[in-house]
Amino acid sequence: MLIDVHSHLLPFVDDGSDSLDGSIDLIKKLELEGVSKIILTPHYKHGVYKTTKSELKDKFDTFCAEVKSHGLNVQLYLGQEVFCDEKIYTLLKNKEVLTINDTNFILLEFDYFNYSDILDYAYNISQMGYVPVIAHIERYRYLDADTLIELHHMGALLQINASSVVGEHGKKFQKRVFAAIKSGLVHFVATDIHKSRECSLNDAYKVVCKKFGKIVADNLFINNAQIFFE
Ligand SMILES: [Fe+2]
Repeated sequence: MLIDVHSHLLPFVDDGSDSLDGSIDLIKKLELEGVSKIILTPHYKHGVYKTTKSELKDKFDTFCAEVKSHGLNVQLYLGQEVFCDEKIYTLLKNKEVLTINDTNFILLEFDYFNYSDILDYAYNISQMGYVPVIAHIERYRYLDADTLIELHHMGALLQINASSVVGEHGKKFQKRVFAAIKSGLVHFVATDIHKSRECSLNDAYKVVCKKFGKIVADNLFINNAQIFFE
């Protein structure tokens, strides 16, 4: 059973789902394609997305009850995708943002186009006792292969999007993610699903299976994510 570690299906909290029915429908589809666990990771971005932790937890509980009432068996967990800027250290110090399923793993997002010192952020955040999980590494144009290796050695965990694996964003993105998978640096493939069924996790699983074998695919889509539930 597949695990989706990055999604925006908690409705009405960020640029993800803006409809309860839409979220239920997408979860139904994910369950049908073999997803058994989904981590909901609404954005936190200073001044943009600012739903508080306790508000998110309340909304999450209500949403879980709603999902159950539709007879769905998929298990939902809560985290946050936190945009990294200089405010991150205060946010973490004050525990103002949610880690993944209440662990010490934190999902981090960076500016896509303007250079951000991901290595420096990851190092400092690790020193604070967190394990950085870097969301969709293929999106940061300035992130090179050497930095990925350094992040890996530092203990940061790297995630790529299923849509990039299936080639939805073009060959260039696909090449980048294939190279990262081949180098053994990637830990998770996730949907990062927002409002619509942007891509199927199972389709991406099949692509990885075909290109890199079942062991690699099982690790990226199932086994590595177990650390969030221990
Ligand atoms: Fe995301």
